[in-house]
Amino acid sequence: MFEILKYPDPMLLKVAEPVTDFGPRLEQVVEEMFFTMYEFRGVGLAAPQVGISKRLYVLNCGEGQPPEAELVLINPEVVAIEGEQYSDEGCLSFPGMFAKKLRPNKVTMRAQDTKGKWFEITGEKLLARAFLHELDHLNGKVFVNDLEPQEYIKLRKELEQMKREYKREHARTR
Ligand code: NI
Repeated sequence: MFEILKYPDPMLLKVAEPVTDFGPRLEQVVEEMFFTMYEFRGVGLAAPQVGISKRLYVLNCGEGQPPEAELVLINPEVVAIEGEQYSDEGCLSFPGMFAKKLRPNKVTMRAQDTKGKWFEITGEKLLARAFLHELDHLNGKVFVNDLEPQEYIKLRKELEQMKREYKREHARTR
């Protein structure tokens, strides 16, 4: 299982590099990412969150048991967006924190699979939200970056606390 990096780890603020090696090692990383995501009851996990600065993420927004709704998006790009939704969003790098965030309601993505084959996929509601939340991670953005002020204010204290904890942890392990 991977360790999930917590805010404000600098890895979370870095733009990730494209995936170029499509081999057994990539499959292993993907499997380990799913395992880690399920352990922490997440619906999405991006490689930078586990310390790998590569453009890939895994998702399972389905109700069913894995692996029915498992998705792997490698080198993902947005093809089209439509509509709006405004609902709660969270992130495994910010345990227990949620904020309302405006996102498109329907999103079409283009990405490569673990064999390097390109495909297109459209998601609505939670899946559309997850596509873009995880894509933000690949671009060094986290979900608290562009919240509306009234939502940001609610999280401000917890974010400061997380920064203090990170500093403390960092001082100890150095
Ligand atoms: Ni996240």
